[in-house]
Amino acid sequence: MFLIKGLACLALLALSHAQFATNYQSGRNGMVHLFEWKWDDIAAECENFLGPYGYAGLQVSPVNENAVIGNRPWWERYQPISYKLNTRSGNEEQFANMVRRCNNVGVRTYVDVVFNHMAANGGTTGTGGSNADPSSKSFPAVPFSSLDFNPTCAITNYADPTNVRNCELVGLRDLNQGNSWVRDKIVDFLNHLTDLGVAGFRVDAAKHMWPGDLEAIYGRLNNLNTNHGFSSGAKPYIFQEVIDLGGEAISKSEYTGLGAITEFRHSDSIGKVFRGKDQLRYLTNWGTSWGFAASDRSLVFVDNHDNQRGHGAGGADVLTYKVPKQYKMASAFMLAHPFGTPRIMSSFAFDDTDQGPPTTDGHNIASPQFNSDNSCSGGWVCEHRWRQIYNMVAFRNAVGDAQLQNWWDNGSNQISFSRGSQGFVAFNNDNYDLNSSLQTGLSAGTYCDVISGTKSGSGCTGKTITVGSDGRANIYIGSSEEDGVVAIHVNAKL
Ligand SMILES: *[C@@H]1O[C@H](CO)[C@@H](O)[C@H](O)[C@H]1NC(C)=O
Ligand SMILES: *[C@@H]1O[C@H](CO)[C@@H](O)[C@H](O)[C@H]1NC(C)=O
Repeated sequence: MFLIKGLACLALLALSHAQFATNYQSGRNGMVHLFEWKWDDIAAECENFLGPYGYAGLQVSPVNENAVIGNRPWWERYQPISYKLNTRSGNEEQFANMVRRCNNVGVRTYVDVVFNHMAANGGTTGTGGSNADPSSKSFPAVPFSSLDFNPTCAITNYADPTNVRNCELVGLRDLNQGNSWVRDKIVDFLNHLTDLGVAGFRVDAAKHMWPGDLEAIYGRLNNLNTNHGFSSGAKPYIFQEVIDLGGEAISKSEYTGLGAITEFRHSDSIGKVFRGKDQLRYLTNWGTSWGFAASDRSLVFVDNHDNQRGHGAGGADVLTYKVPKQYKMASAFMLAHPFGTPRIMSSFAFDDTDQGPPTTDGHNIASPQFNSDNSCSGGWVCEHRWRQIYNMVAFRNAVGDAQLQNWWDNGSNQISFSRGSQGFVAFNNDNYDLNSSLQTGLSAGTYCDVISGTKSGSGCTGKTITVGSDGRANIYIGSSEEDGVVAIHVNAKL
């Protein structure tokens, strides 16, 4: 009974409050998660790289004050102390300046918002200098007191939705979003961010909150700030962290009426395919047939900041920067395929899964350094600055919403397809070379392969591919080449 009532209610609210549009500027696509970057560095990155290279958006690490924890693990940012905008990434003034500068160059900001819980025991001092006593559920800088939390109990049973939503995730003090004071504080926090010009939110731990409570909170969100170039009446884009790989009581379908969800099955499946555990030819029906949510409800990714280090969900099959050839192929496929809203992970290098970002002194986050080939150093991986990835963002922008056409596969792990007559991509994940005449869908001419190189003036720094008057081109991808993919598009015609 309760379930049926809940579903009907969701369907109704989907019509009034739902927000599924990314708010990207037209002609731009591709979001990057600049995990643990500082606000001043992101502002510069928008101007120097993300804007010029066509990126549409960026996700930032949590912006609100978090607990300072011992040797500064990355996960301390998921332990809120208050909603003051003070973290190791910078203060409110720096954040506001970053959002404005990024909007000015066409790059939208999405904030990772953590309001399922506050800090666990041990987190008594915040990055903004506030004090708290999680053991007595006292967070005076909000303020929250024990009245604002669910009773203490541990999440132990993913077959029980009440346990998952009303108990504590790894000891994190579990806020009661059904409480009106708690709702007010969350809504104020989110609306403050909207005022500063952000375009949407990644809702952390959404699975651990009741859909009805989220619906009430989302229903009170302000429209985006038109002083930042958003159209009047635009709502924040919402993508909710709901890990649903099947086999649990809580399903992503309880959330897709409210916003998009982070589609973990996409990460899991693309990892298995490009690790050779599934054949590339099966990608022919990539999308909802693979158990994914609808395209406009799916925020898709190869890896995220949790599963790249074995946290959260997803196991050994998740591809990361540590397996670069397969990672670039999977990323190229994600960006070439029309399904979903792709997000690119931009990591710092790690060995220890708790390890925080590079620092100058064990506490202050270090800035990335940049090499002449666009790549990063100083402990930052910067996958978004890998040519094979940023050139595929340009590919996605070039093909727009052109249909997937001209699918070809060789019956195993060699595939190719076009996006209408705008772009063409081929992959070889077999142990033997791909050498075939393939239909590209493109007009006759010579194109620069944007994987092995970049169009530069009238030349190309990588391979060139010649398309004949029948649209066919001879495509060669040796099995031992550095890259297992080639891609050409209308803006890379020579
Ligand atoms: C797939 O490609 C490999 C290498 O070119 C070839 O050995 C194999 O026969 C191909 N399969 C088909 C069905 O063409
Ligand atoms: C690819 O195939 C073409 C035509 O079938 C042949 O002329 C060429 O030598 C092949 N290339 C390689 C590298 O095997």
